[in-house]
Amino acid sequence: MHRTFRHCALLMAMAGAAAPVLADECQLSIDSNDLMQFSARQLTAPASCTEVEVTLHHVGKQPLAVMGHNWVLTRTKDANTIANLGMSAGLRKNYLPQGDARVIAATRLIGGGESATVKFGTAALKPEDDYTFFCSAPGHIAVMKGKFELRK
Ligand code: CO
Repeated sequence: MHRTFRHCALLMAMAGAAAPVLADECQLSIDSNDLMQFSARQLTAPASCTEVEVTLHHVGKQPLAVMGHNWVLTRTKDANTIANLGMSAGLRKNYLPQGDARVIAATRLIGGGESATVKFGTAALKPEDDYTFFCSAPGHIAVMKGKFELRK
């Protein structure tokens, strides 16, 4: 434990000395849990990212059928419609309408201990539009949602 900590501290010091060695800002990460929560209300990537990669982690223990989560991106005005269509689509279809262009990006549904990644191009995102990410499992959008922004 002690040794691990010192090793970490050393790596952090080295990272500080060599500033360009940073995690890719176009790669974002968000956690979800057994309490039906995302770990962030906002995700932001630099507008210079031509592609953004989002990795969703489920840090809980509940199985997919009980507390499954996904990460879905739509325009804010489409979010509730897509969540409702997703509920009708059902678990086997990842709680998402199939082939619906309003779904800009979506991970698969995951259960406790799992992770899923989605990569999407930013060319279709308009500066004048407002974007929301949410979980499309039934009812989850009420609490599992946030803003997605490209930072200029
Ligand atoms: Co959820």
